[in-house]
Amino acid sequence: MLNIIKVNNEQQFNETGASLIASLLQINPRANLGLATGSTPVGVYKRLIELYNEGLVSFKDAQSYNLDEYIGLPDNHPESYRRFMNEKLFDHIDIQKQNTHVPSGNAENLEQAADDYNRLLEDAGLIDLQLLGLGHNGHIGFNEPAEELQGPTHIVTLDEVTRNANARFFNSIDEVPTHAITMGIGSILKAKQILLMAKGADKAEILATALKGPLTTKCPASFLQTHANVVVLVDQAAGRLL
Ligand code: F6R
Repeated sequence: MLNIIKVNNEQQFNETGASLIASLLQINPRANLGLATGSTPVGVYKRLIELYNEGLVSFKDAQSYNLDEYIGLPDNHPESYRRFMNEKLFDHIDIQKQNTHVPSGNAENLEQAADDYNRLLEDAGLIDLQLLGLGHNGHIGFNEPAEELQGPTHIVTLDEVTRNANARFFNSIDEVPTHAITMGIGSILKAKQILLMAKGADKAEILATALKGPLTTKCPASFLQTHANVVVLVDQAAGRLL
């Protein structure tokens, strides 16, 4: 079931996303949070830091599991997702660093790293709330459009659409990694609740395709239609066709 929340501005977007996460933690301080990177959740993380500073939320008993990581970037590379999470959220709240999990994109044996992440997710029990952004090609995590999708964490070749979209964060397209490690569609859909976030006119068409079109591996986000509890947080521009 999809519950669509359409907000009027950036502030409402961030407030709504942050409140959902904060209220979960107020009810269940030991919650398993599934986290995303990219530009969409940055303001939500900022608002969460404010709520933490105001004493309204604590992460000290929470666990976090990130969706994905580039392959081949050292952890301290400015664009690694581990560094992104530290800088945008973890360094500013009381989460225990050992409770924050990001798939390893540097392991010598990447297949093993993917298996290890799967085991970690299985041992964790269910993710209580999984945050998602939406790629212009319909990807969630780094599950790119393909003939077949994979359930568990795995290694992917990044789509050229994705590399081009993310080139804005690097000096040039050549520096954008070609591969990534990502939770699979199966892992994502196991979450108890999903928060899909999309902002801006450039996401309107793909969002409508994902939520109202057919279920297809050509648009991985379309499988969110099968989930029992998805909150879709959009601004007016992204939600225009819903
Ligand atoms: C990030 C991720 C990606 C992004 C998507 C949207 O961890 O898994 O699926 O959510 O590419 O990115 P932005 O938010 O930058 O438009």
